[in-house]
Amino acid sequence: MTNVAIIGLQWGDEGKGKIVDFLASKFDAVIRFQGGHNAGHTIKIDEKVYKLNLLPSGIVSNKFSVIGSGVVVDPVALFNEIDKLKAAGIEINPSKLVIADNACLIFSFHNQLDQLLEAQKQEKKIGTTGRGIGPAYEDKVGRRAIRICDLKDENNLKERLENLLFYHNLLRRSLGVEDLSVAQIIAEINPIREKLLSYTKPSSEITKILKGLKNIMFEGAQGALLDVNFGTYPFVTSSNILSGQVALGSCVGIKDLDKTIGILKAYITRVGSGPFPTELTDETGDFLRIEGHEFGTVTGRNRRCGWFDAVLVKQAIDLSSVKEIALTKLDVLDKLDKIKICVGYKIDGQDYDYLPSDISLWPKIKPIYEEIEGWQESTIGTKSIKELPIKAQNYIKKIEGLCNVKATIISTGPQRDQTIVLEDILSN
Ligand code: GDP
Ligand code: IMO
Ligand code: MG
Repeated sequence: MTNVAIIGLQWGDEGKGKIVDFLASKFDAVIRFQGGHNAGHTIKIDEKVYKLNLLPSGIVSNKFSVIGSGVVVDPVALFNEIDKLKAAGIEINPSKLVIADNACLIFSFHNQLDQLLEAQKQEKKIGTTGRGIGPAYEDKVGRRAIRICDLKDENNLKERLENLLFYHNLLRRSLGVEDLSVAQIIAEINPIREKLLSYTKPSSEITKILKGLKNIMFEGAQGALLDVNFGTYPFVTSSNILSGQVALGSCVGIKDLDKTIGILKAYITRVGSGPFPTELTDETGDFLRIEGHEFGTVTGRNRRCGWFDAVLVKQAIDLSSVKEIALTKLDVLDKLDKIKICVGYKIDGQDYDYLPSDISLWPKIKPIYEEIEGWQESTIGTKSIKELPIKAQNYIKKIEGLCNVKATIISTGPQRDQTIVLEDILSN
């Protein structure tokens, strides 16, 4: 039995969906353990493109799928996604998809609040996906969230909603928006309440089911630099992303995770605001955006693009006990004559091998680069390491050395088979 977590090590959009889909055939189940429908995971199989937000990517290959207790669930978005996938020929029913009954719900007022608070921040905004993720997690830690299990009993639901709306209406009045009533929220959830409950199981039952399976894959959303503890706070999402969250959000114990594969893009991108020491605002940045199709899956926003930053990912690698990586989008660098890698920072003349938490230092960061010759040959769709140009192989070795990891998978295109496997991830 080998249970594996797939975690993004940058600011998201590293290609997690592609790698989860590529590996899915080896696993009995795929589990989402944090985040919500702020995620946008793309899977390309021949001419078909699937964009998954809340559903585990394994669902596309008919794998048993679990939405764990660490996820925040917008039920309207969930059923829209299920309907879209069903229309594309994917089979989804309560024996294929199970949702933990202690997962917390996102309602439309969470989205509204997310957007209102962002608008108020003006140029200081985080650049959230506007999907209510932050407000929903705030309610969770504030102990007032509605969990899926609260939908079962009408009287309990009304009581829980009164408690929740007491808080939200105070906030809404201060923002100049109308109060909400319990009846309004019940009217929002009622049309899909029974359907949602039919997909739900007690978390203890999910634990039992998972114990009976051989290989489980835990599918991370977002990326380590967006982690609410260790990311570029406050420009982060509202959940924990590092591998420790697997145990907290999946209905399994900490010893049920055998290894974590970190997903690294061969350069780096970010959507939304926040520090980005290696950002390229010149034509090379535009080149990466166009060549890598770096436009947000969820919001369609332009992704900011920059050189690979080894400083940023090192801490995430240590904190998630990552020894193996999947390096994606190598092909996007094919045409460049020079490629840079950031190996350190200078701030006020002092060397740093980590990103300081003190945000007042961020504007002063000067990246220290090593320059590497580009290979200027197409690597798209390459399936064996020997077929890669030597200079591309050297680039991979450089990243392995700087980050002290082994690349076991190299992705050379968006399609499932555009992949080089250097080692079977279940064999060690
Ligand atoms: P995720 O959020 O980590 O799953 O990543 P996204 O799906 O948001 O963004 C990754 C994008 O890159 C998607 O459009 C993928 O189809 C695409 N992609 C994944 N791997 C590769 C690759 O190796 N090369 C290229 N050119 N595109 C890739
Ligand atoms: P995947 O799983 C990239 C970013 C948002 C914003 C910040 C907070 O596709 O890699 P939120 O709505 O979560 O409160 O927004 O986090 N963000 C992502 N960026 N990929 C994602 O997911 C993201 N999910 C959230 O752009 O900067
Ligand atoms: Mg994405």
